[in-house]
Amino acid sequence: MKIAGSILKIKDDKIKIEKMITSGIDYLHLDVMDGKFVDNKSLSFDECFEMKDLFKIPLDIHLMVKNPLEYINKFINLEPKIISFHIETDNVDENIETLKNNNVLVGIALNPTTDIDKIIPYLNDIDLVLVMSVDPGYGGQTFNDSILEKIEFLNNYKISNNLNYLIEVDGGINIDNIKKINSDIVVIGSGITNYDDYSKQVLKIKEFL
Ligand code: DX5
Ligand code: ZN
Repeated sequence: MKIAGSILKIKDDKIKIEKMITSGIDYLHLDVMDGKFVDNKSLSFDECFEMKDLFKIPLDIHLMVKNPLEYINKFINLEPKIISFHIETDNVDENIETLKNNNVLVGIALNPTTDIDKIIPYLNDIDLVLVMSVDPGYGGQTFNDSILEKIEFLNNYKISNNLNYLIEVDGGINIDNIKKINSDIVVIGSGITNYDDYSKQVLKIKEFL
């Protein structure tokens, strides 16, 4: 299991970002919010682009935005490994095509209340499913146990249909609940940043993987 360390703010946080990047995580998870799909606003493309040289590990970009295509066209310039957009938005086919044409792994995210059936038609065409375990918008929320069923479904569906998508889980993950999550990637924000020594905390998390 791989760890994606989550970043929600850039302004005044350069030191924290550097600490996160060098902490031993596998991906840097950039949480992009437009203030429309979710109430909160975070990480504009310009501020991320200014930091491009700092991002020395693979980028995993999570678009919590109403119009993903507009953001995909900008954020591909950061040369990310993965971009995920939400199934609750429009132009899903066009988003998939644009990401594929730019050699970016295609992720589709779904909110805790969104039915898993919505994503099934795309599972043979995408690289990753991002299962939200909190309502998107804010860090530091509590893990919603009801999504464990979705993870189990996605693992079983993958085996029975001989598919290859990765499963990533995002929100409220810490050393107390990580053991019950059966996924390829876990996104962790406050479970790392609540501690002074990020590297020590990542090492501790890895003991539970
Ligand atoms: C939620 C974001 C997250 C989340 C991670 O809107 O997508 O990636 O904030 O932070 P923690 O681990 O604090 O829930
Ligand atoms: Zn996220």
